[in-house]
Amino acid sequence: MKKTMMRFTLLGMLLSVFMPLCAQEKKIIHVGTDKLDLVMQVSEKGRLYQTYFGEKLKYPQEYQNLNWWVNASSDGSVVRRGWEVYSGAGNEDFFEPAISVKHNDGNRSTYLHYLSSETQSVPGGVETIVKLRDDVFPVEVTLHYVAYAKENVIRTWSEIRHQEKKPVVLSRYASSMLYFSRSSYYLTEFSSDWAREVQMSTQQLQAGKKVLDSKLGSRAALMMDPFFEVGFDQPAHETQGEVLLGTLGWTGNFSFTFEVDNVGNLRVIPSINPYESPYELAPNTTFKTPDFIFTLSSEGKGQASRNLHAWALKYQLKDGDKPRMTLLNNWENTYFFFNEEKLGALMKEAKDFGVDMFLLDDGWFGNGEHARNNDNAGLGDWEVNHKKLPGGVPALIKYAKEAGVKFGIWIEPEMVNPKSDLFEKHPDWAICYPNREPYYFRNQLVLDMSNPKVQDYVYGIVEKLMTENPEIAYFKWDCNSPITNVWSPYLKEKQNHLYIEHVRGVYNVLERVKKNFPNLPMMMCSGGGGRCDYEGLKYFTEFWCSDDTDPVERCYIQWGFSQFFPAKAMCAHVTSWNRNTSIKFRTDVASMCKLGFDIGLKDLSENDLAYCKEAIKNWNRLQPVILDGEQYRLVSPYETNHMAVNYVSQDKKQAVLFAYDIHPRLYEKLLPVKLQGLDPEKRYKVTEINLMPGRKSTLKEEGKVYSGDFLMKVGIEALKASQTTSTVIELVAE
Ligand code: DGJ
Repeated sequence: MKKTMMRFTLLGMLLSVFMPLCAQEKKIIHVGTDKLDLVMQVSEKGRLYQTYFGEKLKYPQEYQNLNWWVNASSDGSVVRRGWEVYSGAGNEDFFEPAISVKHNDGNRSTYLHYLSSETQSVPGGVETIVKLRDDVFPVEVTLHYVAYAKENVIRTWSEIRHQEKKPVVLSRYASSMLYFSRSSYYLTEFSSDWAREVQMSTQQLQAGKKVLDSKLGSRAALMMDPFFEVGFDQPAHETQGEVLLGTLGWTGNFSFTFEVDNVGNLRVIPSINPYESPYELAPNTTFKTPDFIFTLSSEGKGQASRNLHAWALKYQLKDGDKPRMTLLNNWENTYFFFNEEKLGALMKEAKDFGVDMFLLDDGWFGNGEHARNNDNAGLGDWEVNHKKLPGGVPALIKYAKEAGVKFGIWIEPEMVNPKSDLFEKHPDWAICYPNREPYYFRNQLVLDMSNPKVQDYVYGIVEKLMTENPEIAYFKWDCNSPITNVWSPYLKEKQNHLYIEHVRGVYNVLERVKKNFPNLPMMMCSGGGGRCDYEGLKYFTEFWCSDDTDPVERCYIQWGFSQFFPAKAMCAHVTSWNRNTSIKFRTDVASMCKLGFDIGLKDLSENDLAYCKEAIKNWNRLQPVILDGEQYRLVSPYETNHMAVNYVSQDKKQAVLFAYDIHPRLYEKLLPVKLQGLDPEKRYKVTEINLMPGRKSTLKEEGKVYSGDFLMKVGIEALKASQTTSTVIELVAE
């Protein structure tokens, strides 16, 4: 009897799982990675809906069990509403759409219907291409999803086309749309300003909209960063809970809309910011949106960050698989005041110091009354300053060769000072109102990159420097002004295209640079971290996180950027900001990213100099662990008075722990730092490195061997009670 009952129960279970297969098959589109499923379904009326996004479902047959509609009424009556994958304005959905089109007859509605879908293999993943078409107007949208299986990252974008007689006007053109139904949503945003980049703050989303956006045009991320985190059912936690991390690959105005609807469901809409940008799309041309890159983790944001890091190193960041150069920059040391001999001497110092490259910053160009001796003049005139550097760049390269270091150079090619030969010759190349008093940001204007002639000119700056001096080994590409005085002399009556065409113009130039000088590493800099997006990083090997190099502030800044970017992409320089802190603390903080120096070496004591040389050697030796290993954020500066991060090599044979004491309280209880990501079975020898000359480690665990299991469960007593101190520990498996 019992057995029969069991058989029935089993049969019942199987039936409930597979029954829907017998009913009419639903048209399903599935985008999957090793751990995630994004499932879409075509409704009876041919519209496309998201039916699932979350942890991978074990039985693909059960995608059929998902319904395209959700109950959309809070009063109990059955109102069916779907989560339309690319919702159009004017349809039965009352919330924020992905697309809004004004058709030739003035109608503003878009009802997209499923046409076809296909998949194809692309580097690292599978691309799903879904075609949709309006049933009344000849408007098509093609959705692209590239799923990176191993990294659990999805990159998605959309393409809009039409065959109406005249241009249609797009006033919404999102990259994608995602929906969630959870008990609560906690948004972490990253607000910024000069020297205060990526300030993390979290708030619970309530009914209605929250928008994170930028209207700055060129230095677009100056005040808000193009990325976010959403914690589901709880604020995003480092090691547990479900977390969405998303970022837009667009070096211009962006917007993320988070809208909680009447029944408590959340939609997330990443897009170019449509602000002042209704786009007139000509027939048979394609409007391609930027990529939205996202990952979902059910093991907290630490894992989500590692997903993005792994993806970026393999598939997005320029030269993600190549090592990076340490460098000595002269900006904070000399500012605009140098000459050939002074630079020659600095290059020799750089060699003796042990870095790979000398990087010449701002101030090397402009002549006569447009000499670049301060930030008032010279931008645009990329002719070497003959007074300061009579031998030109070739002489500097000769100095670098003699010294035995590589030579890198700063440019800010998209900008112009009104006090420049370029502006006198081509005032119409700058974005500026013809009929208003100009407003200057850092005494400069933004060149009009929508103008192909300007693009040629900007590309020509790099080309000329590289053709005349093929030994230039690196560019620091700066961008210090947002778009001000928003008028393009080139676009004339199409001013509404300026914000978009400007960014496309920048990409045209960068594409040419990458194509013609593929092995040229470049730093993306924007007065600090005003540019930090993954489309930009296709062309740049790294970015400058902030002009704020005070190591205390840097802890927060590096913690913030590490949520989205691998250490290899993040430049960190040791300077004399907050010189009250030791050189060891400053160097140890910079060492958790791509290490560089921007400091007068002559100002360092013998001891400090010796310490730095040793730290550079250590960093170079450990570069494969720090830059190519996996990062685990262990102790948050936002939650404690310390910070700790460890890196583990891919084979788990080596690890590095960075522990920082920022502002500990008196008699504060210090907990051991539990490492993560080690092999529990391996036995690791613990050695403190980066010690000041003559100092011995006071670490209890120094020189001892522990299992990975022990180090992850018990930890190392690496934190101290003293202000701004640091401990760097190398772990090597026996
Ligand atoms: C802003 C950058 O962030 C600095 O590092 C430096 O290059 C200056 N510009 C030079 O003007």
